[in-house]
Amino acid sequence: MTSPMTLTVECTPTASALTLRPRQDSDIAIVVAAHCDEAMRRWLMRPINDEDEARAWLADQNTGWADGTHLSWAVEEDGAVVGYFVIKAANPPETLATGVGYWTVAEARGKGIASRCVEAATKWLFGGQDFMPADEIELLHAVGNEGSCRIAQKCGYVLDSVLPALPPEFPDEGHRHLRKRPV
Ligand SMILES: CC(C)(COP(=O)(O)OP(=O)(O)OC[C@H]1O[C@@H](n2cnc3c(N)ncnc32)[C@H](O)[C@@H]1OP(=O)(O)O)[C@@H](O)C(=O)NCCC(=O)NCCS
Repeated sequence: MTSPMTLTVECTPTASALTLRPRQDSDIAIVVAAHCDEAMRRWLMRPINDEDEARAWLADQNTGWADGTHLSWAVEEDGAVVGYFVIKAANPPETLATGVGYWTVAEARGKGIASRCVEAATKWLFGGQDFMPADEIELLHAVGNEGSCRIAQKCGYVLDSVLPALPPEFPDEGHRHLRKRPV
């Protein structure tokens, strides 16, 4: 059992700090609105069409904390939710690496929010905490998701392999990027 916790992504000279906080019921409408976006529909595996689906998705975020399989946070900037961020526990033998995932609302894109979250989570995962110690972290994205590929590159996640498409769940080939704990 892992208790939900809050993380802070430090401010930069040009951007406010980000708060990563556990889900709230008030996120339901935000999650529905965010998933209306074309990029969300194209690149995320689980479409969310209405409040019931958002409620079910948010309930799964609770389960992830409870069983320690995935830790997820709403990302807040200046008090507004601008995205969601998740750390997924390694799931052997499928993968021995801890994973990171993210989405941001369309209006907040291109400002470095997802990249800053990845950097902060990487530092946290490699930083000796007890929640989810990690030796290597993977970042998976569909080939063609250029924004996500750029985040991987910017954050020092090296392209490790190209994964075959596995329709219907994964209709596109994938990129597996890896970052290893510094020695
Ligand atoms: C991918 C996503 C999370 C990026 O969020 P973001 O907060 O805008 O990300 P950042 O600003 O930190 O970085 C995005 C980088 O990708 C670049 N980028 C975005 N779209 C691009 C494109 N089509 N081609 C090339 N580069 C692109 C941006 O220019 C930026 O790089 P830069 O800082 O060097 O200019 C956001 O677009 C999103 O939520 N997409 C839909 C859901 C999704 O794809 N989630 C990831 C699944 S693996």
